[in-house]
Amino acid sequence: MCGIFGCTSSRLSVSTVIYESLKRLEYRGYDSVGLATTHNGSIYLKKDQGRIREVEENLHLSFLPGRCGIGHTRWATHGAPSKENAHPVTDCNGMLALVHNGVIENYLELKDQLQKLGHRMRSRTDSEVIAHLIEMHVKQGLPLDEAVRRTLLLLKGSYAIAAIFASDEDTIICARMESPLVIGLSPNFVCCSSDIPALPKEVEKIIVVENGEIVVIRPHTIIIKSLETGQELPLKVTLREEMTGDADIGGFTHYMLKEIHEQPQVALNVIKAPAKFVTQLAEKLVKAERVYLIGCGTSYHACIFGSHVLRFLAKIDSFPLIASEFDYCNASLDAKTVVLALSQSGETMDVLSALKRLQDLGIEVLALTNVMGSSITRLASAYLGLYAGPEIGVAATKTFTAQLLMLARVAVEASNIKGENVDYAKRIEEFLRQSPSAIKSSISSNVRRAQELSVKMSLKDHAFFLARGVNVATALEGALKLKEVSYVHAEGYPAGESKHGPIALVEEDYPCVFICPQDETYDKVIGNIMEMKARGAFIVSCIEEGDKEVKEISDFSFVLPSVEVKMLTPVLHVLPLQLLAYYTAVARGFDPDKPRNLAKSVTVP
Ligand code: M6R
Repeated sequence: MCGIFGCTSSRLSVSTVIYESLKRLEYRGYDSVGLATTHNGSIYLKKDQGRIREVEENLHLSFLPGRCGIGHTRWATHGAPSKENAHPVTDCNGMLALVHNGVIENYLELKDQLQKLGHRMRSRTDSEVIAHLIEMHVKQGLPLDEAVRRTLLLLKGSYAIAAIFASDEDTIICARMESPLVIGLSPNFVCCSSDIPALPKEVEKIIVVENGEIVVIRPHTIIIKSLETGQELPLKVTLREEMTGDADIGGFTHYMLKEIHEQPQVALNVIKAPAKFVTQLAEKLVKAERVYLIGCGTSYHACIFGSHVLRFLAKIDSFPLIASEFDYCNASLDAKTVVLALSQSGETMDVLSALKRLQDLGIEVLALTNVMGSSITRLASAYLGLYAGPEIGVAATKTFTAQLLMLARVAVEASNIKGENVDYAKRIEEFLRQSPSAIKSSISSNVRRAQELSVKMSLKDHAFFLARGVNVATALEGALKLKEVSYVHAEGYPAGESKHGPIALVEEDYPCVFICPQDETYDKVIGNIMEMKARGAFIVSCIEEGDKEVKEISDFSFVLPSVEVKMLTPVLHVLPLQLLAYYTAVARGFDPDKPRNLAKSVTVP
């Protein structure tokens, strides 16, 4: 979490470029922001706690002088959000400024050593030790890049850093270990950034910095060195990839709403995605004796869906696992095990840590991600993109849909390879072809309904989301969406489990949202609805067109197009729940794009 950006130019004043890029990085963290530049032999620095626009209004970050600078948008790990703990951090004499994304695990030990040497720490961050260590090495007479390199060799943990120096006005030194970092090249400037969508439009070429690389950037030169040996490495420059979407908000009030409405296009992108990558993944999965799908948050919910579809369609033994629990669950791992990791960002530390351990054990790792060039793509032996375009809203919406559709494509391919359930697979293919229009009508016909229900939901403290079978994934996702953006406490549960405890919470008018397609779970879910109804619950249902029975026993219904392949109902049934979460957050006066305490990519364990 945290976003870093740096820019150096021979002709432009860079603070506006940095400020604009930080706005695009703000989804990575938004509790504090800061910017520093070099000018006339000094470091100029402004930073504070708060959202970027508020801090800009008060401090005018974008007015700092100079042609070289760095910026940071923070999601606090070490040290509460405050002016002191905001980045950039500096050395004792303000001769260098540094921004950091990641966690330095041995910072307490290093801090102690530095304090004994007389260094004065101003913050409670782990990051500040890096600035003081560089200062210490510079004082020993080392050139700047060597001082940074020696410093980084002392660190344990993860980092993407960028530093500027009063003594070398046009130079940025940046480096990467686990946390993402890219270099952007444009005719007017060179920059470094935590991700590609944040790069200014003028950037035409990109260098993805690899783990263990240190980069010295000047307006007309880029030098990459190995952190371990200090030896210069070749530059691997690629053209900026055509993005399948854009990071502009368009005419929408929030990114979350824009991204919900982008889902028909995302479905089209998924079905048009090159078949060879889908086949490559499917071929590896069918050879496995067991497959674990691992992910966090929304991606974990997609793992639940994916395991159902792979088990049902292709008869592959598949199990969903929460990535952060992987270490402790003693899963059977052998040469016949394959792990399919799901991560929108491709940077989630819990997922990456599990993958690294799996790699060490020689287990084959595959990945499904929205960000090409992300860390997960480098750890996997094969990966598949989601083609959803940049997702800026912190709550995952369109990427969840892309995950479901892509997993369905993979399962269809696997079932064709194995010759299992081939007819059903054909019908799924037909559903996939229809999915852009089915998604479009599911959204448009439920916007007004979601707005109506959001008025009531915004006054509630709690809600249940209940379903059986594959739609447990939908229930969990509906609950996660509502709680993370509107702060209404919501629990997703398998409906059958609700009577084993959760039902004790139900009282008059308690909202219970049931996902109730006409599949093999239908009758039992009706039973669960009746149990809740008997206790006074306010019943909301997501039903298929023509379902009079559940409509009659519900207080409120979202109606979705009827789907022949019931296994794919989550693709449509989750849509009104995304809308409900969005409108409830807005009705409660919250910004759904930047929920409190969250960040888009969680790069800490
Ligand atoms: O980038 P990832 O898919 O690995 O992210 C996983 C979770 O952090 C993410 O899904 C999170 O739960 C979102 N806030 C959900 O909306």
